[in-house]
Amino acid sequence: MDAILSKTQMGFSNLAGYKVFSFDKISSTQDYAYDIIAKGEARDHSVIVALAQSDGRGRYRRKWVSHHGNLYASFIFNSPERDPRLSYAVAVAIAETLECFGVQSSIKWPNDILVAGKKIAGVLIEYAGRFVIIGIGINIHSNPTVQEYETTRADKYTNADISDFFSQLTKKLDKWIRAEFDSVRNAWMSFAVGINGLVKYRGEMVELIGINDSGALVVRRGTEYLLIHGDEITM
Ligand code: BTN
Repeated sequence: MDAILSKTQMGFSNLAGYKVFSFDKISSTQDYAYDIIAKGEARDHSVIVALAQSDGRGRYRRKWVSHHGNLYASFIFNSPERDPRLSYAVAVAIAETLECFGVQSSIKWPNDILVAGKKIAGVLIEYAGRFVIIGIGINIHSNPTVQEYETTRADKYTNADISDFFSQLTKKLDKWIRAEFDSVRNAWMSFAVGINGLVKYRGEMVELIGINDSGALVVRRGTEYLLIHGDEITM
């Protein structure tokens, strides 16, 4: 394992309530989170943060290219049950974090964060025992070239640095994971792209309406409203 940075080195001195594990480089903060959960070293509000990853993972088993200069973090929270609504709270927390530094973003369902239509941050939510692991990658000083979508980075829009983003993100996550789902949903809808637009669902075009109380996506096919739970739509 590479050198562990001190909290002050990365400016992590003001993280009230979080148990912080910080690294210069690690294979994957997500995998480290699994390890400390298995060893009994994790607690609610633990966070693993690294400046680079050699084996970063994204959704759909994709690689998450993780060069130095971006934020890579995995947050561990108590979660005795799976909760599909969490994904929206996390997306709103990231969008608000960017907003703090003057970066206007939008959310592409369920939790891709876009700036000017290009992906700037991604979220990978996994469950382990009684915990949820929320992996977040934010492009700050570099953005990889990815075949599937266009990417961008924060330093095109702000001088804020990794520690600024990390510090804000911890606060926003704490705020939004505790919030009533009604306010999460309202905030998510205000950032969401494509509402009332057409999306592809099982080969047909349907209208994207929003999300319901349980976190399911609501789409309209003619006069019929459908609830979608998985990653089944294409925008
Ligand atoms: C996505 O595919 O959009 C999700 C990307 C999630 C990447 C983050 S970076 C920190 C954490 N560690 C990982 O290996 N992946 C997540």
